[in-house]
Amino acid sequence: MHFDLCCFRRVSIPLAFLGGGALLLPLSAQADALQQQFDDLQNLQVIAHRGASGHAPEQTLPALKLAHEMEADYLELDIQMTADGELVAFHDETIDRTTDGEGELKDFTLEELKALDAGSWFNASSQEHADDAFSEVQILTLGEIIEHFGTDTRYYLETKSPELYPGIEEALVDELEAHGLIQAGAAVIQSFSQPSLLEIQALNDDVPLIQLVWYYPEDNGDERLVEWTGVTPGPSEIDDADFQAIREYALGIGTNLTYDDERQVIDAAFVEQAQANDLLVHVYTINETEDMRMLLDWGVDGIFTDFPDRLNALVQ
Ligand code: G3P
Ligand code: CA
Repeated sequence: MHFDLCCFRRVSIPLAFLGGGALLLPLSAQADALQQQFDDLQNLQVIAHRGASGHAPEQTLPALKLAHEMEADYLELDIQMTADGELVAFHDETIDRTTDGEGELKDFTLEELKALDAGSWFNASSQEHADDAFSEVQILTLGEIIEHFGTDTRYYLETKSPELYPGIEEALVDELEAHGLIQAGAAVIQSFSQPSLLEIQALNDDVPLIQLVWYYPEDNGDERLVEWTGVTPGPSEIDDADFQAIREYALGIGTNLTYDDERQVIDAAFVEQAQANDLLVHVYTINETEDMRMLLDWGVDGIFTDFPDRLNALVQ
């Protein structure tokens, strides 16, 4: 990444100016936009987890529109690829939980996925926020989402299960570049897969990267925590060199706070040590106000939440 604090200057880039892609954006404006994004990332970022997914079906237009209306800084999306090579926003590897279909997402074409009901499941699971209109919502392509919101928001995009989708990194960077989003400072890319992040960096080293980690007890009943992919040791063993190894390619770390919504896996000292090694610390997925207050007290740099309205009520 090429962030130069000496040259910081606030600019605003009209969406129309970006229309048609990166070629219309002068290099100096791109540098300013990336600098603005970097500067904004130094403040607490409200990251709408799968959109405002506590209020509406995750990663669908209602959830994303609500998150935008609630003034989330980033729309968080999990990106996977259809059988015919289209990038879609979808969390699970199977379509069973959040649609009326069954099977692995990678086996379906976009046309087949578009025919599914991607919202009725939410009405069955959330009486408080149920809405008959949700039965009409569809799985969205990344392109559809970008065309809807443009650079009026920022996107926090996860390469989800990238080992299932050879070429997903190139397809993602191509799509973001075609819409001028990296150049506009409107995209962050996150992954649990270090190789996926390194591939993104090789394709475009301007996009800020977040290394996701998930700490959990290796064996049930074992006190010792490990990281899912082994990208770091567990929190009790992690040292400065481990954080610095991530800082070589990523701007920050995205970590769970708890395991199974019960056991806390990180503490204020973990956050302090990561930040002392120049890493941003973003924490997922925090829906209780009490937890939000605690993390704000710890000084974290961003919080993923299904309820961006709750978090913004604390920070705005
Ligand atoms: O991307 C941060 C957080 O969303 C990771 O968990 O399973 O919700 O993608 P998951
Ligand atoms: Ca995610």
